[in-house]
Amino acid sequence: MSPARVGEKWWKNAIIYQIYPASFKDSNNDGIGDIPGIISSLDYITSLGVDVIWLCPMYDSPQIDMGYDVADYEKVYEPYGTVEDMEVLIDACHERGLHIILDLVVNHTSDQHKWFQESRSSKTNPKRDWYIWKPAKYDANGKRQPPNNWRSIFGGSAWEWDKTTEEYYLHLFCVEQPDVNWENAVTRRAIYESAMEFWLKKGVDGFRVDTVNMYSKQPGLGDAPVLDPKSDTQVAFSQFCNGPRIHEYLREMNDVLSKYDAMTVGECPNTHTLHGVLRYVSAAEKQLSMVFQFDLVDLGMGKDYKFLTTFPGWTLRDLKSAVKSTQDIIKGTDAWTTVFMENHDQGRSVTRFGSDKTPKLRVRSAKMLAMMQSTLSGTQFIYQGQEIGMVNAPKEWTIDEYKDIDSTNYYQMTSKITNNDPVELENAMASLQHLARDHSRLPMQWSADANAGFSPSSSAKPWMRPHDNYPELNVKLQETDDASVLSFWKQMTRLRKEYADAMVFGEFEILDEPNQNVFTYSKKGLNTSLLVVLNFSDKVQKFEKPDTLKGDNWKLLVGNVEGPSEELQAFEGRVILI
Ligand code: GLC
Ligand code: CA
Repeated sequence: MSPARVGEKWWKNAIIYQIYPASFKDSNNDGIGDIPGIISSLDYITSLGVDVIWLCPMYDSPQIDMGYDVADYEKVYEPYGTVEDMEVLIDACHERGLHIILDLVVNHTSDQHKWFQESRSSKTNPKRDWYIWKPAKYDANGKRQPPNNWRSIFGGSAWEWDKTTEEYYLHLFCVEQPDVNWENAVTRRAIYESAMEFWLKKGVDGFRVDTVNMYSKQPGLGDAPVLDPKSDTQVAFSQFCNGPRIHEYLREMNDVLSKYDAMTVGECPNTHTLHGVLRYVSAAEKQLSMVFQFDLVDLGMGKDYKFLTTFPGWTLRDLKSAVKSTQDIIKGTDAWTTVFMENHDQGRSVTRFGSDKTPKLRVRSAKMLAMMQSTLSGTQFIYQGQEIGMVNAPKEWTIDEYKDIDSTNYYQMTSKITNNDPVELENAMASLQHLARDHSRLPMQWSADANAGFSPSSSAKPWMRPHDNYPELNVKLQETDDASVLSFWKQMTRLRKEYADAMVFGEFEILDEPNQNVFTYSKKGLNTSLLVVLNFSDKVQKFEKPDTLKGDNWKLLVGNVEGPSEELQAFEGRVILI
């Protein structure tokens, strides 16, 4: 890795490759990706020019939410492999100079975790207080009601009635994901030991911290404001995001992490002010190395509920301001930021922000987006398959191909509420085709062999259907094609290291704020300056040269169109060195 600026932390200049274990590479023909599959792909991963891999949860889990429901932090989900496989992976990464970080999921556990099994067994169990239990409320008709009106993030009430002890427990996500009670100091210690130190001692270099701002709930657990009077549950982020003790918890957690010099990136939704974000990531706060802000990937989602929207649902001005707000986190501060357009919870960026209408536009817009991502400041994250320009599942696919609980809940809810109205169901499918989390979870497209070469044997059936386009869109084809999206990403990761001064650390400024087709910005480093011009439309646009380009004081560093002219072709991008 090329050095970060003198005195800067190594992870600032890092490029992190995110792996979704179930969908990356199957080594034993059961159709489920696994850790030996990742180990066998490490040469491919290093060929991309990345510095770190981030593994989504590989812990023992009943997989109601794809491993984000952890039953045992110290075991590996059997189909993925064993703790020994993980040890081999950690060593194999380090031998290649790669760092490895894991997903830390500690807002909740699975209901199958032994802590919860004990907690739910009786009101006097010593672990009763490790989760959040409350007695029922009764309405005027004497009917039992949950303790408050909070809505779960996956829909329905955030409270589940438990018959054994006749109380409700809180679950911000699905019923099988009970929230841990962070108020209890003994519980916090147990989390640090089991979920963090167990793996830090094995050599992992840090964590992506799941839902990092939800541990501290508002005292008293009162009702959320009623914004949707027709519903008996209400969106309640104000009641459980950024709660009063969250920063105390994170400082305490950091005391543990810092013993191992571990890096962290926190998932930080619903924290919309710069001041609010800085409380997590200012270096002086000693909490998290950086956070994911969702301004960019939330573009086009419905305001109240992500699926209640129509495609595409955003304008280029929205995108510019989303990019600006994440870039501004480091402007004149001691904080750090992240750059990403995809992860395991999002549709594919080419479908959402580029175009997958024709192969030509797909390839070109994938490269344009690679130019944007590679020239923005912060630690960069590439999600598996993004480097070959994978796209959302085809429109023709039916609900049967969608496996994610978030998608299936939404579809079932729509069919129930509308009594199977065909138009409403069609709208629901259109939303899913646009925004479902499933798109990023389709098997990685390795080759044109059966099932995208996901498993060694052609008769193995992957757990999700591979995209129909894998014969034309796969790693093997792109590795030997200089004009491929993959070759372009490799070029961009090289350039990002070479021009880290401007690309990773430079100051970002938008030059054409009102323009709804073209996005032009400058990146000023200490020694170099860049101009980035991106045509986000599928039409030819005028290239409006800014005053900074005078005579021959500039050169084209990289572009995605042969012989660029005075005009910008559809989805053309240019990175210009001044
Ligand atoms: C995060 C994860 C998501 C998961 C949720 C609950 O948002 O990224 O996949 O469903 O947390 O753990
Ligand atoms: Ca397998």
